[in-house]
Amino acid sequence: MSTGLSIFVTVISLFTIFGCAYLLWWCWTDKMGVEEGKSMGHNFDGIEELNNPLPAWWTYMFIAMIIFGLGYLVAYPGLGNYPGLFKWKSAHLDVRSLEDIEKAKALAEQNGERVQYEREIARGKEITEPVFAKFRDRPVEDIARDPVAVQIGRRLFLQNCAQCHGADARGGVGFPNLTDNDWLYGGSAAAIKETLVKGRIAAMPGWEAALGDEGIKNMAAYVLSLSGRKVDATEAAAGKAQYALCAACHGAEGKGSVLSFTDPAQQAIGAPNLTDDIWLYGGSRRAVEATLRHGLAGVMPAWQQILGDDKIHLLTAYVYSLSNQPVN
Ligand code: HEC
Ligand code: HEC
Repeated sequence: MSTGLSIFVTVISLFTIFGCAYLLWWCWTDKMGVEEGKSMGHNFDGIEELNNPLPAWWTYMFIAMIIFGLGYLVAYPGLGNYPGLFKWKSAHLDVRSLEDIEKAKALAEQNGERVQYEREIARGKEITEPVFAKFRDRPVEDIARDPVAVQIGRRLFLQNCAQCHGADARGGVGFPNLTDNDWLYGGSAAAIKETLVKGRIAAMPGWEAALGDEGIKNMAAYVLSLSGRKVDATEAAAGKAQYALCAACHGAEGKGSVLSFTDPAQQAIGAPNLTDDIWLYGGSRRAVEATLRHGLAGVMPAWQQILGDDKIHLLTAYVYSLSNQPVN
């Protein structure tokens, strides 16, 4: 926090504590000038207020609290920017990127800080390390049949992936279904792992400017016809005439770039198969028109730095298992 705020917080905290201490002392030493047990001169409907001392147990507790409070503020952070004698921190604040986190970690180590979050993560690693070690060297296809590995992968999926792909991995609009064996980037263990490690950014340009209203309508008709939908034949034919615009990414037959497993560069584009009636962004005429008009840019985050090799290995096995049911 800024120096001004730091001073503000410090002054208020200390003022409150010492204010309480002073009030206690004032009552304790009887500064009211009235003898103990005598009337304070206040009378409420016949009930008189006497100058009785504070109960001793209560007073001692109050004193203990003040001492504890001051001790706490010396040991732990609380007074503005003062870090506390124990140099304890809950977590690294003000980090904006993974590099920031690495820098903050190194700095904390240098300064002998005790960062609770880091210690808990380290403790968690100690527990999970022997579990992960069992699966590390086995191929994905193999551990995808191991119920324990799949169970761990599923938990990791629920923690990290379900918010986008759904708890059952069936996806939603814009987020691919991972259970249907219809792949944008390939469903081999290697391709799935690459998706998780590096992330994927899809880029489908918008065609509003190039095709115009009429062209978008025609092209949507053609796209829908590819998966066997009934459409106006003239519109579809007009769309087909311009399909050359799309073939570079979606393939000459609209089967998507992923089908060319032999050409990794093609595969990385992630252009969906348009003939299978599986829609990432919805298969209504309106949805397809909107897709064509505005373009799309689905982003699958990269997980390498966040999850690390072991977790990605198990997640790959889980995702792989979803569309490759165990044979035995
Ligand atoms: C922020 C949302 C988000 C999160 C979180 C997320 N994904 Fe994705 N994922 C996407 C999007 C969007 C795509 C599709 C990218 C595109 O449109 O081409 C995708 C694509 C994929 C694909 C490729 C599917 C294909 O058909 O080739 C796999 C596999 C995948 N995600 C697995 C995961 C796993 C495992 C996790 C958890 C570690 C995860 N995703 C977390 C948004 C997300
Ligand atoms: C530069 C490569 C590229 C070109 C050219 C291209 N697309 Fe795409 N298209 C993609 C990618 C990549 C996606 C997936 C976008 C995403 O996941 O966010 C996509 C998605 C789509 C979808 C959504 C499919 C679904 O399942 O919801 C449709 C429909 C589509 N494209 C049709 C077309 C048509 C028609 C053309 C030609 C006018 C075209 N695309 C040109 C790359 C391309």
